[in-house]
Amino acid sequence: MNSDSNCQFDALKYRADFPILSQEMSGKKLVYLDSAASTQKPRQVVEAMMDLYYKYYANIHRGVYQLSQKTTDAYEGVRTIVKEYINANLDEEIIFTRGATESLNLIAHSYGKVHIKEDDEIIVSEMEHHANIVPWQQLCKETGAILRYIPFDDNGELILEEYEKMLSNKTKIVSVVHISNSLGTINPIKYIFAKAKEVGAVTIMDASQSIQHVKVDVQDVGADFMVFSGHKIYGPTGIGVLWGRMPLLKTMQPYQTGGDMIKAVSFERTLFADVPAIFEAGTQNIEGAIGLGAAINYVNSIGIENIAKYEHYLLEYANAKVAEIPQVKIVGTAKEKASLISFILEDIHPHDVGTILDKCGVAVRTGQHCTEPTMKHFGITATTRASFAFYNTIDDINVFIESLKQVIETFE
Ligand code: ALA
Repeated sequence: MNSDSNCQFDALKYRADFPILSQEMSGKKLVYLDSAASTQKPRQVVEAMMDLYYKYYANIHRGVYQLSQKTTDAYEGVRTIVKEYINANLDEEIIFTRGATESLNLIAHSYGKVHIKEDDEIIVSEMEHHANIVPWQQLCKETGAILRYIPFDDNGELILEEYEKMLSNKTKIVSVVHISNSLGTINPIKYIFAKAKEVGAVTIMDASQSIQHVKVDVQDVGADFMVFSGHKIYGPTGIGVLWGRMPLLKTMQPYQTGGDMIKAVSFERTLFADVPAIFEAGTQNIEGAIGLGAAINYVNSIGIENIAKYEHYLLEYANAKVAEIPQVKIVGTAKEKASLISFILEDIHPHDVGTILDKCGVAVRTGQHCTEPTMKHFGITATTRASFAFYNTIDDINVFIESLKQVIETFE
């Protein structure tokens, strides 16, 4: 029976596209609640990649032969798929990277080293993933710029008054996570970026945890750059996207140098290729891009609005069930949240929680989730995080809740 008929979303139908989910763990049905770390891959993505390998694989941009041209067209075609998905203006504004981490490093290097000077200010939030902190710390160390952090309150909501006080004509970059990977907070990114624009700052959106859950429209939110990873949106690992506005991309220096990012090379000098090729040195992750294109097509076939609605329903259900267990303390109780619950259990270390849940067939992530400063805010070192995707069901959540009760009983 499809237990999710209340929401008129046929989760079981889509779940059948994910063969990995139909197996058992420790003799129990696998309940995969770690989609915030990596989503599972539907057949459609795996088959698109197999199709490439079996039917038309060759290196791109280099061959005059038909096979290479076909691969090149497919690879380049994924830029259009991504462009339309995020409502960008140009295919050429889509740059393929290894993931969100590389995309952020690329901006810090290629934009930051050209435009950021001593005493300039860069603003991120205190709830960023390390990938949106460390590249800016490095840039500040090298340039003498100053990194500032928007604080958040005990619910996990950014304190916008503090942010507004920080803004000045010194602010050159505002880089903020759309949805927090450890708290689940949906940040008011449009408002944050509008304020940044008032002082002329460039805006960067980390969409790693939103691209797969809600509509991301880079025009609507007023972003100048946006990053995400393919493996978070049902695509393969090792592929990601950096989107940027063309006038900004054109001002940037290369990130890596070598083949395929040049127009001409002599011993004296090199003429670089245009955007996006200038940022894609060497043979790219061709199969990754093809898989990513298939993943976005798959998400489009379901509809991101339908996904958002169903996942909201799952989250509300899970929240209500977790609230019935007095020993659970939820970390991150913002009004606007998406698709995950981070929590602690008094006197039980998250790693123990995760290990016992695993014995019940329930896969969750435990630890600091690459957000050590966020954990520090709450005076903790780790949480247990259950994160949901549209292939999860109410039944999955019921198993999770029952298993959580078993964890508590074990320690009592
Ligand atoms: N940063 C990923 C997560 O949140 C891996 O789990």
